[in-house]
Amino acid sequence: MRRSEKGRQTLSDQPVDHRIQELRDRKAQAYVGGGEEKIARQHARGRMTARERLQLLLDKGTFREVDVFVTHNSNDFGLAEQKYPGDGVVTGYGSINGRLVFVYSQDFTVFGGSVSRAHAEKICKIMDMAMKNGAPVIGLNDSGGARIQEGVLSLAGYAEIFYRNVISSGVIPQISIIMGPCAGGAVYSPAITDFVVMVKETSHMFVTGPDVIKAVTHEDVTFEELGGASVHASKSGVAHFAAENEEDAIFLVQHLVDYLPSNNMQDPPLAPSTDDPLREAPELDTLIPDNPNRPYDMKEVIRHVVDDGQFLEVHEHWAQNIIVGFSRLGGRPVGIIAQQPTVLAGVLDVEASQKGARFVRFCDAFNVPLIVFEDVPGFMPGITQEHGGIIRQGAKLLYAFCEATVPKLTVIVRKAYGGAYCVMNPRHIGADLVLAWPSAEIAVMGPEGAVNVIFRREIGEANDAVARKSELVQDYRDRFANPYVAAAAGFIDNVIEPRETRPHLINALEMLQNKRESLPPKKHGNIPL
Ligand code: HXC
Repeated sequence: MRRSEKGRQTLSDQPVDHRIQELRDRKAQAYVGGGEEKIARQHARGRMTARERLQLLLDKGTFREVDVFVTHNSNDFGLAEQKYPGDGVVTGYGSINGRLVFVYSQDFTVFGGSVSRAHAEKICKIMDMAMKNGAPVIGLNDSGGARIQEGVLSLAGYAEIFYRNVISSGVIPQISIIMGPCAGGAVYSPAITDFVVMVKETSHMFVTGPDVIKAVTHEDVTFEELGGASVHASKSGVAHFAAENEEDAIFLVQHLVDYLPSNNMQDPPLAPSTDDPLREAPELDTLIPDNPNRPYDMKEVIRHVVDDGQFLEVHEHWAQNIIVGFSRLGGRPVGIIAQQPTVLAGVLDVEASQKGARFVRFCDAFNVPLIVFEDVPGFMPGITQEHGGIIRQGAKLLYAFCEATVPKLTVIVRKAYGGAYCVMNPRHIGADLVLAWPSAEIAVMGPEGAVNVIFRREIGEANDAVARKSELVQDYRDRFANPYVAAAAGFIDNVIEPRETRPHLINALEMLQNKRESLPPKKHGNIPL
């Protein structure tokens, strides 16, 4: 039996005061949204109803609904005869693992979840309550967009939601789960929120759909190819997570919330772990290949260092040459940013820079300490990169690290070359502690490139150019491709054995737990967007 049927039966079985009975009848009507037929259609498509989703998301029995009786006030196009209590969105608050969250869940069975003025006002009320009470907002989106019959009233409602998304940004975490269509200007609300979770096959996001694209650019594309979860999680970067199904998406959000503070005035929640803070990881001592051009999996490094090997990767399938995500060290949530040598040698390119910058800014806004595991051969060369704005995009990551005032720790695992050294959280831009492994190489560029530039003539004139170059490369490597020049200058605070990384980082976080740093007063900076 579906929840709506069960609710109805329970409500009508008991003899009660007629006013209470009326209340129950009204609520029962609201609980079935657009009716049983439309609920069945929703289920047949592998989608839950708005209420079923909330029931799964929130701790049992904690959901408190508001505005269940709100209806629209429009009369055009037959709307006067079609009023549904709640008007296509279920709003309220509850808890996830005991912590308060505000929620809205669009009901596709009522006018396709489309946004009327009243529907938007309900969402705005929830967003205002969340801001006043310092708790996250989670929006479950399943909507055909602006309620077409309402015209500009609907657009006004949307604009008021967008405004609140922006004003709330950096104050309370905002999470969007896309569980159906999300099209046109409607996409800009999720786009402003901190995290977008999409569901494979059943959710779609686009500004203009396949039909409009066909008419304007004559391109043929399916809904899934244009704006499905996989595309947005791997190509556009719009989605931070692509879930297999709705249950998966909800589980993921519950997990994500566990890492986040309720608002920007709180520290993220501690979760004591049985993983010994002093635990060493001997596996790390042999992980880095002797040949500096051979890859290894940086996720192995992360897993060996963090509490219980737990790592919630964000943007797992987009710009995979950089890794970002949440983890814990000694029970404290941390944001990890690391290069991935197995993908494009971990180079920084346009997309990796954007991905890293957005994550760093989220962590900084919400007091999540940053941990960098660095192995970066530099910025990606190429016309596409230059014309794609690698100058502007790379500057974003640099800017984000510079302005971040949370505890910032860097572990130089292997390469830290050139401009990328300056970007990836060195001491010079505010890192609180920089550690290096003995395999670290800190230089303006790799030994081969450096020798080609500074000894070009000498190599050209040598009897055996190959042998001479090889000697010069070795000499350069001996001098610069190690952590000790930087350590002698005080740019690196300590060179450590890889196995000791976990205790060093946990000690550093304890040392920094009362860190206070602020930026000069200003309205806001001008990050190169
Ligand atoms: C009013 C809408 C609606 C809308 C859907 N419905 N979208 N009613 N306004 N925007 C209604 C349908 O009439 C239908 O009602 C019910 O919802 C279910 O829709 P179906 O079409 O039967 O469902 P489906 O086949 O799943 O298709 C879903 C859909 C499609 C892809 C979302 O309905 C669609 O293309 N809708 C229009 C999308 C759109 O153009 N929206 C405006 C975008 S512009 P009945 O009574 O028959 O069940 C926009 C601007 C925002 O949103 C601007 C912000 C700045």
